[in-house]
Amino acid sequence: MGFRKLVSVILIFTLFWLLPISIYSLSSAELSEIPTNFLIYAQKPEHVKWMVDVRRRIHENPELGFEEFETSKLIREELDKMGIVSKHPIAVTGVIGYVGSGEPPFVALRADMDALPMQEMVEWDHKSKIPGKMHACGHDAHVAMLLGAAKILQDHRQHLKGTVALFFQPAEEEAGGAKRMIENGALENINAIFGLHVSAAILSGSVSSRPGPVLAGCGIFEAVISGKGVHATITRHTIDTILAASNVVLSLQHLVSREADPLDSQVVTVTKFHGGDAFDVVPDSVTIGGTFRALSKESLLELMHRLEEVIVAQASVNKCNATVEFFADDNLYPVTYNNEILHQHFINVAGDMLGTQKVEVIVEQAVVDTCNATVDFFADDSLYPLTYNNGVLHQHFVNVAGDMLGTQNVEDMKTIMGSEYFSFFSEHFLDTFTFSG
Ligand SMILES: *[C@@H]1O[C@H](CO)[C@@H](O)[C@H](O)[C@H]1NC(C)=O
Ligand SMILES: *[C@@H]1O[C@H](CO)[C@@H](O)[C@H](O)[C@H]1NC(C)=O
Repeated sequence: MGFRKLVSVILIFTLFWLLPISIYSLSSAELSEIPTNFLIYAQKPEHVKWMVDVRRRIHENPELGFEEFETSKLIREELDKMGIVSKHPIAVTGVIGYVGSGEPPFVALRADMDALPMQEMVEWDHKSKIPGKMHACGHDAHVAMLLGAAKILQDHRQHLKGTVALFFQPAEEEAGGAKRMIENGALENINAIFGLHVSAAILSGSVSSRPGPVLAGCGIFEAVISGKGVHATITRHTIDTILAASNVVLSLQHLVSREADPLDSQVVTVTKFHGGDAFDVVPDSVTIGGTFRALSKESLLELMHRLEEVIVAQASVNKCNATVEFFADDNLYPVTYNNEILHQHFINVAGDMLGTQKVEVIVEQAVVDTCNATVDFFADDSLYPLTYNNGVLHQHFVNVAGDMLGTQNVEDMKTIMGSEYFSFFSEHFLDTFTFSG
């Protein structure tokens, strides 16, 4: 997902924590040696070279959600070479490998596999070979890292008194791959799961996380606001969807600023506003859409409820109707919540491995964005002067027309808000402009 993602937990070592027998038979000095030894093992040149090579192969061949067929094949081939049994397909392209005794506890490590529909713009030796697709979110690195962890675990499998399930998950970006894996039974018997995301905002060699909510729950909405479109000047007969939709956008700002608890972070952002393609016709309907986010399930559901209520009610103020769609089956994501005990374990292990100065516990995060606006009036071609009838010429027209048609057929008309190119003449000459039936 396209915002700062946070490293949640370092891989392997949690397993030992979950195994009381092996833990209690070790001194604390011996315990803290485990991460250091694994790091040294991971840094062996041949191991690093192989992981970098895997990552580059995946980077060159990015695949979108639920289309990760080649990535999935590469993963299974590498697991086969290591002698790791795997289950496939789970949720179309997903793979789960198993390392260890085959007995509980079962601890899952998860890597996502899909790329983004973006063009890679940087020229380098391992640039994406697929136009319009790119591993821009680092999932290629995640797969390589989990395969790296798989190799280390497999090389130490005689010490494992439990089982590590290696989750290679499809479709993280949009289409709900994790949900599909769960529906396919992936979480049966699993006692704990650890995930990790690379981030350009964190220095290489450092990790960062926090206990409790770490990533927001999120949903999307799309609303169609319908009214009655007519020519822009006939304001009396229009039911103005642009105005109604604009008022809806403004009213939605109150959900977070006036209704939410300031200590309970929430976001409502309108990101789509589509309606109309003429300069002088109000469209019959306007579609708006956006996202809403919260750090608890209750707040997320309350936002969803109020979004619909406010959109429908605010649209009706301008005599418009509105329908709201949440696409909730695939697009309502729960909050990512870090278990506090596992988080503390992560802090301890990462501290032993990297040094405590390289382990950051995030306190709070706030992002403030400002927008700039530009407005174009296309004034060279599209700024019309008003059409102004000269009083003397107008009287002349009334006299002549009265003589010609009879005075009862010469109407005094009201000014109308339409425009005419004739106005350019009227800027330069004395003129009069008339209508005839
Ligand atoms: C809104 O819905 C009502 C009830 O279906 C309908 O009578 C009315 O014409 C609709 N108004 C607009 C502007 O679409
Ligand atoms: C807004 O414009 C200013 C001045 O040109 C610029 O420095 C700033 O980056 C712009 N902000 C955005 C969000 O585009």
